[in-house]
Formats: sequence, structure tokens, C-alpha cells
Amino acid sequence: MYSEKVMDHFTNPRNVGEMNEADAVGQVGNPSCGDIMKIYLKIEGDRIKDIKFQTFGCGAAIATSSMVTEMAKEKTLDEALKITNKSVAEELDGLPPQKMHCSNLAADALHAAVEDYRKKQQGA
Ligand code: FES
Repeated sequence: MYSEKVMDHFTNPRNVGEMNEADAVGQVGNPSCGDIMKIYLKIEGDRIKDIKFQTFGCGAAIATSSMVTEMAKEKTLDEALKITNKSVAEELDGLPPQKMHCSNLAADALHAAVEDYRKKQQGA
């Protein structure tokens, strides 16, 4: 049912944990299941230098979170905003159709974190 990449990222998630003194945080809840994801960013210039996630969710949510952190690292903020739930699922060699909604969390939390950063910049 799951690709090898999904199983790999689920059993060995990258960039998991909390980040002290993050420059931005994005948190989203998945309305279809109630699961929650949080993404922390460390930003230098316009680039994501470090990224961590915490996910209270299913295996597919953990795998997509892990993958989105790998995809977003070292990217500019504009590039990070172009990462979609579809591109995350594609990088994982696909998700079962009934699990596609889980990948929304990953892209949405990343986008929320970038927006959080931009809001803070404007306020500064
Ligand atoms: Fe909730 Fe997958 S079932 S994120």
C-alpha cells in the first residue's frame, strides 16, 4: 500500500523535533481527521537554513512532514511556497488516494510558517 520512500520517512523521519528560537512557526490542523502539524524555521537572508517538525498524526502525515522538511531546506522562501501537497506526495512516489489529505498538512504548515515569518518582518 505504501511506497518504500513513505515507509523510510515514516520509520526514520528527518528533522523531527522542536526548535528553540525559531524565526517562524506554522501550525495547521487537518479538518478531515483532527491531526496537527507544526513546522519551525530558521531563516537567514531569504533562505531556510534549518527546519524541524512535530506531527501529531498518522504515518502518512509523519512521512510527508519529513519529506517536506527535506524539500524545503536551503530553499528560498518563494521556492518553499511553491512546494505543494502534490509535489510532496510525488517525491514520496505517491500516497494511497485515501491518504492524500494527509499530505495537505505538510505543505500547509510550511506555507503557514513562511507567512508567519513575512508577517513578523513587516511588523519589525
Ligand atoms: Fe490525519 Fe493522516 S489521518 S493526517
